[in-house]
Amino acid sequence: MGCSDFLDLKDVSKVYAIRAKDGSTQQIEVVHKVTQTVPEGQFVTVVGPSGCGKSTLLGMIAGLTPISSGQLLLKGRPITSPHPSLGMVFQEESIFPWMNAIENVSFGLEMQDVPKQQCRERAQDALNLVGLSGFEYSYPKELSGGMRQRVAIARALALDPDILLMDEPFAAVDPQTRMFISTELRRIWAATGKTILFITHDINEAVFLSQEIWVMSSRPGSVTETLKVDLPDERDISILGTDAFAHYTGHLWSVMRAEWETTQGSAEHMV
Ligand SMILES: Nc1ncnc2c1ncn2[C@@H]1O[C@H](COP(=O)(O)OP(=O)(O)O)[C@@H](O)[C@H]1O
Ligand SMILES: [Mg+2]
Repeated sequence: MGCSDFLDLKDVSKVYAIRAKDGSTQQIEVVHKVTQTVPEGQFVTVVGPSGCGKSTLLGMIAGLTPISSGQLLLKGRPITSPHPSLGMVFQEESIFPWMNAIENVSFGLEMQDVPKQQCRERAQDALNLVGLSGFEYSYPKELSGGMRQRVAIARALALDPDILLMDEPFAAVDPQTRMFISTELRRIWAATGKTILFITHDINEAVFLSQEIWVMSSRPGSVTETLKVDLPDERDISILGTDAFAHYTGHLWSVMRAEWETTQGSAEHMV
């Protein structure tokens, strides 16, 4: 691991203090010694059971949640607070219902004191990129769930972040739309060259989207496997039926089943 790596995690752990009824506190480790590196431009997906610490891991990378121990570096510098070089897209709809699409996308730029005219131009470019030209003046309630998430993606991209962090962004979108919007995300990734760290618990989505998959164990979440996905760069839905695709999903299912079996009935991990 050299210092030229883009995003570096070294033994990154997170411990939360949980308050009990009697007023005492208990330390619970939710992320355990994650050591991974992400080269610039990579599409990495994190999969793992609910509650294993995926969002916590992303929150630490976003600078929203302080790490408890270890080292977390972006371009060689510690991440200690939310940073403009990080763009986030969450599962929950986070765009403002009272603003139309272009106002939503411009908003983050205006907050950064970018001149108004430039905000509009950059917002328009981002909306074009996510395939929403023609819907600039539509309000969220006039858009489908998939389109609203595209607005959220456009808003993150308009800030021109070094890295895009996406926490189950399509979880509330219906399965068909989800598949098509994943194809779009691959296209956007190829067009922008952004580094993307994407969380999902959908195995098909993980294999379809990424170049690398981190499998997390149940709490305290640690990365138990790093799987390279050696599928063609040009991916459309026809890849879903291929043997190569099934090879990766089959492998992930077996890893996750083994993990599920070992944790059945076991006590919570405490430190
Ligand atoms: N602010 C917090 N304080 C205490 N515990 C938390 C906090 N945030 C998350 N947790 C706990 O950390 C664990 C991991 O949560 P999370 O990262 O959201 O998991 P995932 O995204 O994989 O479903 C859960 O058990 C959750 O209850
Ligand atoms: Mg989560």
